[in-house]
This record gives sequence, structure tokens and C-alpha cells, in this order.
Amino acid sequence: MNETRRPLIAGNWKMNRGGASGVALAGELAKLVSSLPHVDMVIAPPYTALAACAHECDGTRLEIAAQNVHAQQSGAFTGEISGAMLVEAGCRWVIVGHSERRQYSGETDEIVAEKVEASLRARLVPIACVGETIAEREGDRTLEVIERQVRAFIDIIDASDVPVAIAYEPVWAIGTGRTAGPSEAQEVHAAIRGWLGRKTTALASRTRILYGGSVKADNARALFASADVDGALVGGASLDAASFGAIARAAEALVPRAHSNEPA
Ligand code: 13P
Repeated sequence: MNETRRPLIAGNWKMNRGGASGVALAGELAKLVSSLPHVDMVIAPPYTALAACAHECDGTRLEIAAQNVHAQQSGAFTGEISGAMLVEAGCRWVIVGHSERRQYSGETDEIVAEKVEASLRARLVPIACVGETIAEREGDRTLEVIERQVRAFIDIIDASDVPVAIAYEPVWAIGTGRTAGPSEAQEVHAAIRGWLGRKTTALASRTRILYGGSVKADNARALFASADVDGALVGGASLDAASFGAIARAAEALVPRAHSNEPA
């Protein structure tokens, strides 16, 4: 954590809690966030629960993300959802390029970049995901792969006045119970911030870089202690208010004393 960036804790519900149970969870978290003044908290329910969860969180500091967006603004794209529609449903954020979409839905670096651009055009804040597979890590290609993925959208986020988030999610750590150690995470986060910094120092200092992959209440604090880890993108542990709340509290507890008290 670093005193210039507010911690961001985002919950990716994936294909879970798309109805009334999601709205109930959003309600519990919306209450909880009032006791965490230094942390920004976001949930990403499935499309079917977005509007209802947004309604439930209205007037609270819990914000809503979509898990995906289409690159085009409108038209004959059966089954797709545009950025403007997400805004209308109450979203302020959108997860883009999650490894499950890269893996199962054929999203390439180019498609991810188009979606980052489409999100910003719609005034949504993208959480752009990057991450290496186990084969890439074992082949000593981690930084090469992450650099390629970040470079695909770096000019787009540099040209925007909206501060975006990048999530580093090693594919081998997602849903496996295996997490990158704090020093492994910090190494990649620092490299990402370095590439951003070669564009402008402002881009490097305003971009929040989240870690994702088996983040739980008991490993969150150690991960957040690293200088370039600005929060987490949480999967499984975000489906339970107590465990997601504990992760957010770990971030709150580490906020440097010099940090601004004002919510974003
Ligand atoms: P888990 O926290 O379940 O490993 O999922 C991480 C993730 O993919 C968040 O986007």
C-alpha cells in the first residue's frame, strides 16, 4: 500500500449469485462499507443482478462493476451488452480481459484493448486484467507476457483522464488456493508500475494495481503490505460477506496514517 492511492477491494462474483441471493449479499456489504472509510469497495455481480444490486447500494459507498462489456456501442450483436447499458444499469466499473474470458471466450490482447477503450468512452472505469499461465511462469516468461498484455492498452489508459485499475491475476493462482507470495506479487506489480512510469509518472502514480488469485482473509494483509499492491480482485472469498469484509478490513488497517480521510 502507498499513501497516494486509496486501497481498492473488488469482488468478482463470476457466474454466481445472479438473483435475490446476490441482492442480499450486496445489502450486507453496503452496510459493512460504512465502517471502512479509507477503502473503496466494488462488487461485480452477474449481468442479471446488476441493476438490482445497484439499487440496493444506492446512497452507499459500495460501487458496482460488470464482469464484461462489448467493444461496440450498439447494433446487431445478439447476447452482448454495451458500456452505455452498464452505466444505465448502475455500474461505474467494469472488469475487462479476465483470464477466464481470455481462456474460454477467445479474448485476445487486441480485443481486451478495444474493450478498455469502449469502457472509457462510456465513462466506466476498467479493471483491466493481466496474468501468466503456469507454463509461462515455469518457462521464465512471466514479465514478458505481462508486459505484452499491459502494452496492448497502455496508450489508451495514458490518453484518458479517468484513473483505471489493473489487476494482476496469475492464472495458476485463480481458484486453486495457491497464491503468489507477497514478493512474487510485488515483483510483477513493480514491473507494471515501471512500464506505466515510462509513459508518464502521473500514469504510474494514479493507476491502482490489484492482486488477484486465491486472496483470502488470512493472506490479504501480507499481500497488501507490499508497496505496489493497491488492493485485490477477489473471486471465491467475495461470495461471503464475512470473508470479503475481512479482506477489506485488512486493507483498512494498513492505510498509512498520512492518507487522506476523504472517500474518493
Ligand atoms: P479466486 O479469488 O477465487 O482465486 O478468483 C480470483 C479471480 O479470478 C478474481 O477475478
